Amino acid sequence: MSSAKYAEPFRIKAVEMLKETTPEYRKKVLEDVGYNLFKVKADDIYIDCLTDSGTSAMSDRQWAALMTGDESYVGNRCFYDYEKAIQDLFGFQFVIPTHQGRAAEQLLARMLYPKRPNAKFVLANMAFDSTRAAAIIHDVTAIDLLEPAGYDTTTYHPFKGNLSVEKLEKFIAEKGADSIAWIQMIITCNSNGGQPVSMANIKACAEVAKKYGLLYIADCARCFENAYFIKEREEGYADKSIAEINREMMSYFDYAFMSIKKDGLVNMGGFFCCREQEMYDVAWVDNMNYEGHATYGGLAGRDLAAIAVGLYEGSDYRYLKGRIGQVQYLGERLSEFGVPYVTPVGGNGVYIDARKFYPDIAPEHFPGLCLAADLYLKAGIRVSELGASAFSYKDKEGKVHFPEIDLVRIAISRRVYTNSHMDVIAETLGELFKAGSPHFKGMDKSDWYGAVTHFTSNYVPMFK
Ligand code: F0G
Repeated sequence: MSSAKYAEPFRIKAVEMLKETTPEYRKKVLEDVGYNLFKVKADDIYIDCLTDSGTSAMSDRQWAALMTGDESYVGNRCFYDYEKAIQDLFGFQFVIPTHQGRAAEQLLARMLYPKRPNAKFVLANMAFDSTRAAAIIHDVTAIDLLEPAGYDTTTYHPFKGNLSVEKLEKFIAEKGADSIAWIQMIITCNSNGGQPVSMANIKACAEVAKKYGLLYIADCARCFENAYFIKEREEGYADKSIAEINREMMSYFDYAFMSIKKDGLVNMGGFFCCREQEMYDVAWVDNMNYEGHATYGGLAGRDLAAIAVGLYEGSDYRYLKGRIGQVQYLGERLSEFGVPYVTPVGGNGVYIDARKFYPDIAPEHFPGLCLAADLYLKAGIRVSELGASAFSYKDKEGKVHFPEIDLVRIAISRRVYTNSHMDVIAETLGELFKAGSPHFKGMDKSDWYGAVTHFTSNYVPMFK
């Protein structure tokens, strides 16, 4: 193998033109949508880093598989390929298809919360908003128990997604096991930087779950990227394949679900999986009412065919090395400009520390939203705020709670952008960091709706 820099192990066969707009045009767009980038039409974006979910470029083999889709109502051939791929890569015997991750989460919530009538909490390393939303419907609160390193954006730690065993034990001892619905591990941990969880931590939390008789559930949206970090960073895994590492991770959980829209390299898809026939039978009937028959679950036969191929491509070591290498490249470019971001970078993007990026903007005035708006105004780049806007909430007394960290996620779509796009992002951020916000002193939130307020709210800028 050459000692030169490692490049993506593919070449590009089809291209899609990007639209470019003027700063004046973008200013008008932002005014029209109340400064909420979730409301901007994708056609008005140049480089879209809002999410890495459902945005992957499919391979020639996946497109070919689409053409072989079997669209029979039940028992279609593609379902069996999809099921076999999941059984093989995850080691669970029973698989229920869903159209995306949150449909699998809602299925779990409908099945499990009623069995735990005294449950008030679901414990996680750091719950994603769909987990919070599924819990709230059942009057349950998701509690984040990351190790302290997970909140430290500057010091190197190989596994910043780890769930603190100490905090977990303490929480259960204080509140009682009966008040806990289950323990959920998000691998990688999206909300604090796409940060990996170590095998040792997955195992240690499994032991705690067992000790207290609690269920232990994996959110696998980015589990192959997690397996890649374990292979690279944890002793004893260097010679194991991504599939072997993934199967070992899964062996510690009772159940798993996945938004296949991330590491599965497809635009739509999800699953729930378990080991017992009894659970499968319950899930089968419940899912039928929401997602349809257990051999399609909200997906066309062709989608299932693309997933069966995508799961293998997404767990290919060469692909992961190029993919995570690109995210790391963006991090390295940002370091040249001194931009503060969560180090080391995680799997699915670079997460900027907004409070350090715009230290003059108070956390309650949404420094992350100001940065997101500036990036759009300056270069047509769209990113998502994962901080005061996404995670703050108003309690029943009307008091507003803000999160501990304010991040802005530059999510990198898989197999979509080149390193020249990474350069544009890095250089734009470099200029903004050096000069400070050209436009804003902060923002105010004009309305608060429900659990997913960041999608719907409008913001009122305080101009300089
Ligand atoms: N779990 C994690 C860790 C996620 O990041 C997501 C989605 C879901 C579950 C829900 O999956 O979207 O297929 O229903 N994350 C996207 C994101 C939306 O932008 O990070 P879904």
